[in-house]
Amino acid sequence: MDIFDKIKKNFGPLGQYAKQAHGYYMFPKLEGEISTRMNFRGKERLIWSLNNYLGLANMPEVREADAQAAKDWGLAAPMGARMMSGQTKYHEQLESELADFVGKEASYLLNFGYQGMVSIIDSLVDRNDVIVYDSEAHACIIDGMRMHIGKRFVFPHNNMESCEKQLQRATKVAQETGGGILVITEGVFGMSGDMGNLKAIVEMKKRYKFRLLVDDAHGFGTMGKTGAGTGEEQGVQDGIDVYFATFAKSMAGIGAFVAAEEEIVKYLMYNLRSQIYAKSLPMPIVIGSLKRLELIRNRPELKDKLWTIVRALQNGLKERGFNIGNTQSPVTPVFLSGSVPEATQLTFDLRENYNIFCSIVAYPVIPKGSIMIRLIPTAVHTLEDVNYTLDAFEKIKSKLDSGEYAAGGMVDAAIV
Ligand SMILES: Cc1ncc(COP(=O)(O)O)c(C=O)c1O
Repeated sequence: MDIFDKIKKNFGPLGQYAKQAHGYYMFPKLEGEISTRMNFRGKERLIWSLNNYLGLANMPEVREADAQAAKDWGLAAPMGARMMSGQTKYHEQLESELADFVGKEASYLLNFGYQGMVSIIDSLVDRNDVIVYDSEAHACIIDGMRMHIGKRFVFPHNNMESCEKQLQRATKVAQETGGGILVITEGVFGMSGDMGNLKAIVEMKKRYKFRLLVDDAHGFGTMGKTGAGTGEEQGVQDGIDVYFATFAKSMAGIGAFVAAEEEIVKYLMYNLRSQIYAKSLPMPIVIGSLKRLELIRNRPELKDKLWTIVRALQNGLKERGFNIGNTQSPVTPVFLSGSVPEATQLTFDLRENYNIFCSIVAYPVIPKGSIMIRLIPTAVHTLEDVNYTLDAFEKIKSKLDSGEYAAGGMVDAAIV
C-alpha cells in the first residue's frame, strides 16, 4: 500500500468534509482589520467567532507597540533557542511580570500553547507516574498524554465523584510503581464555556497526593477579580501547581506561558523539548505581549465591558428560551436539535441573510442530532450587536423548528 494512495482515499475525521466545506464552513477567509465587523465573501458580517475577549487585537496602543518592536528588532531577533543564544532581558521581564500577575513564583515562555502543553506533560511525568484527566480536555492535553507511557485514568467531564474514584485507582498504581499523580483539567472549557471544578479538585488534595496542572487558555484575562484566571475566580489559585495559558485568546497575540514554583520552572526550562529544540519567541511578540499584559493589568474596564456584553448576550438568549448549557464564562454555546444538513443550512442562513458569522459544531464533534453554535462575545461588541443577534437567533430558531432547514436547497445553490 502506498501511503499517499491511502491518504487520498481517507482524508481523516475532519478532512472528509473538505470537498463540501472548504472555504465556507472550514478555512473561511475573514478579511480586513480584526474587529466585530469583517468581510466574508465580499460582504461585511458581524463577527462572533474571535477569541479577542478584551478587544486588544486592534487597540491603537497594541498596534503601535507591535509596529515599533517590529521596526526596532525585526522578526529574526533573537536567533536560536533560549538555551543556546535566544535569551534576552525582555523574555525574562515578560516571564517575571506574568508570574506576578498569576501569583506564581516564576514562569517560562512557550512558542505555542499547543506544543508547549504537549511538552509540559511529557516533561512532568515518567513511566511510573499516573495521569488523571477530564474527558473534555483540549487536544493539546490529549496529545501530551499520547507521549506518556505510564497509566492514565479519565473522568467524565467535571464529574467529581468519578475524579475521586480515578484518584483512588491512580493512588494504587502509583504505590505499586513508586510514581506520583498528575491531575489535568481546564480552567474554562473552550467549547461549552463551563469552568473546571478546580475548587473541588484542590479540596481533594487533603485526601490524595497529587499535583494539579490547569490549562486556563480561556480563563486568563477573562476570569477572576483581576483577570488572573479561573483559579482566582474560584479562590484556589494557590492550589494550582502548574498554571498554563496561551497568548492566543485574551492577549490577542501568539505564544503561551507556564507558571509554577521557581524550581519547577527551572526544571521545565531545562527539559521542555518544545522550547529546547525550537527558536526563541521573536522580539516583537515578547514586547507586544508586555504591552498587552500592561493593558490587562491597568484597564479593568476592558474586562468589565466584556462581561456587560457577555451578560446581555447570555441573559437575552436564555430569556428567549435558548439552551446555552452551563457556561460560566464568556464562551457562549447555543444548543439546538438538528441534523448536520440542517446545521449547514442554518449557518448559511445566518451568514448570508443576517450577516452574522459564528462557528458551528455538529456531529461527530458533538452527539448526533445536536447542533452547537458558539458565540464569543468581546469587549468591542456593542449592546446593539447583541440585540441584533438575539433577534436573528429568534428567527433562525423558528425556521429550524418549522422544518425549513430540513427542506434544504439553500446552501448548494449559493456556494460557489
Ligand atoms: C484550551 C486550549 N489550550 C491550548 C490551546 C492552544 O494554544 P495555542 O493557540 O497557543 O497553540 C488552545 C487554543 O488556542 C485552547 O483553547
